[in-house]
Amino acid sequence: MNHYYSLLFGILFLVFSQVKCTGYLEVSFKSDFNLKSVLNVSSLNNSSNSRLVPFLVSPNKTEKLAKIPIDFNETVILTVFVINQDRLDIDNATITATFTPRRGILSPLTVMYPFTGIKINIGCDTQYYGDQCNVFCCSETASRVGKECNSLGQLGCPVGKKGLDCKQSISKKWCKCKNKGSCISSFGKNLHERIQCSCPIGFTGIQCEKEVPSVEMMSVYGVDPKKFEIGTAKMLYESVVDNEMVEVARPHSSHLLHNLKINDA
Ligand SMILES: *[C@@H]1O[C@H](CO)[C@@H](O)[C@H](O)[C@H]1NC(C)=O
Ligand SMILES: *[C@@H]1O[C@H](CO)[C@@H](O)[C@H](O)[C@H]1NC(C)=O
Ligand SMILES: *[C@@H]1O[C@H](CO)[C@@H](O)[C@H](O)[C@H]1NC(C)=O
Ligand SMILES: *[C@@H]1O[C@H](CO)[C@@H](O)[C@H](O)[C@H]1NC(C)=O
Ligand SMILES: *[C@@H]1O[C@H](CO)[C@@H](O)[C@H](O)[C@H]1NC(C)=O
Ligand SMILES: *[C@@H]1O[C@H](CO)[C@@H](O)[C@H](O)[C@H]1NC(C)=O
Repeated sequence: MNHYYSLLFGILFLVFSQVKCTGYLEVSFKSDFNLKSVLNVSSLNNSSNSRLVPFLVSPNKTEKLAKIPIDFNETVILTVFVINQDRLDIDNATITATFTPRRGILSPLTVMYPFTGIKINIGCDTQYYGDQCNVFCCSETASRVGKECNSLGQLGCPVGKKGLDCKQSISKKWCKCKNKGSCISSFGKNLHERIQCSCPIGFTGIQCEKEVPSVEMMSVYGVDPKKFEIGTAKMLYESVVDNEMVEVARPHSSHLLHNLKINDA
């Protein structure tokens, strides 16, 4: 056990370090229409730092865009221009959302036509952990001492186990995790084992007591008055739909704002 202990100490140095945030944004869309769109991901802090991703959506197929690296210290502005669709009377819809990136899924309960589903997944690169993906834990080094990197990016035991040898069972009484969080073992830098909460997606905090706020989206429509008709009005009226891609149902934290912009050019 002594040898094991000193090995663990030596290796801890290699496992932990605080680094520049390394994570990404992965956005998926669904629609009933054929869409030709452009996603613009930019930063509120630095407008010259923007990424444009053109994409096509076919009816009823999930379109998952490539991962876009993001800086967790900057406020993200996400804009979607729908530059063409089957319904030309409501063309040029733009959807915007502004948020501070934190690991998790931003899924509003409802979305607005032309989309029937939007999912924004903010994930960490492999071996990076934490709400801001700024905790590094090397899984190879961890496994050399019979441990693994837990969801907090610390050395820990497989879920449900504790102890230096990971042979003891964890009792749920030892941590009071809310919102279906689970108790996990965590060895900090001083090798002191603590039982901590691992929170499900959508929750954070020491006891998973805090909800991660969902994203607020704003939709603006360009409507061609020459083609505007009953069908268009009806469609706009009925255009708030359940998000087909919702994964975290939290009634208090999902909002949508909608604006109808009449193009009177
Ligand atoms: C992000 O902000 C935190 C705290 O405000 C700071 O410690 C860290 O160095 C920043 N990271 C980057 C990449 O700017
Ligand atoms: C992308 O969005 C940013 C911020 O909203 C804006 O300054 C920039 O002009 C946009 N890029 C394009 C090509 O529309
Ligand atoms: C970016 O802008 C937001 C909002 O103005 C601010 O809270 C944040 O500190 C800024 N980040 C950096 C790195 O300047
Ligand atoms: C803004 O973004 C551009 C392009 O990514 C980068 O070259 C520049 O250094 C950034 N400026 C600041 C102040 O971070
Ligand atoms: C898409 O799915 C909806 C609902 O399931 C269905 O009514 C519609 O016909 C489908 N459209 C296409 C083009 O498959
Ligand atoms: C959409 O944008 C195009 C190009 O800017 C324009 O020609 C067209 O009239 C717009 N359509 C509507 C409905 O605003």
